[in-house]
Amino acid sequence: MWTAHKARFIERYLYYFVLVTKHGTYIDGFAGPQQPDDPEMWTARRVLESEPRWFRHFYLFDSSPAQVAHLQALQQAQRPPDRTKKEPRRTIHVEQGDFNSLVGELLHSAPFSPREAVFCLHYLYGYARRPLLSKIASLYRVYPG
Ligand SMILES: C[S@@+](CC[C@H](N)C(=O)[O-])C[C@H]1O[C@@H](n2cnc3c(N)ncnc32)[C@H](O)[C@@H]1O
Repeated sequence: MWTAHKARFIERYLYYFVLVTKHGTYIDGFAGPQQPDDPEMWTARRVLESEPRWFRHFYLFDSSPAQVAHLQALQQAQRPPDRTKKEPRRTIHVEQGDFNSLVGELLHSAPFSPREAVFCLHYLYGYARRPLLSKIASLYRVYPG
């Protein structure tokens, strides 16, 4: 039930999120497709292709080289911004690795300003929730979802 509807639910949530913020950064630590033959269930794809295209920055991670290849193909498939709709230029960063190790580096390198609205999807595989949330909270204002 959750798996089947998760991608659609997150896309809807972020639709309202971006209507409020008018911009944003999307971080997905486990971004490869759960079912490569069913792109409708792929959260990162749905968020990237959701309208309005106001998210400006994407950080997509996966530990599996095969999954990273899917992410790179998704990155290459993106159309350029439609200037008639005032869509911003986007950056899409794809990286292979263990997100539990890489998330600290990403947050400390602080590529986003304190005013940036950031949504981070994390599955908490093998990672204690509390240390991660307190790490994020120490760096940013957090509105837990
Ligand atoms: C359940 S799938 C993610 C589902 C995906 N977000 C979607 O919407 O279809 C889990 C993914 O996490 C990746 N993964 C597992 N452990 C990881 C880790 N420690 N760091 C990064 N990626 C990891 C797997 O390779 C796999 O692609």
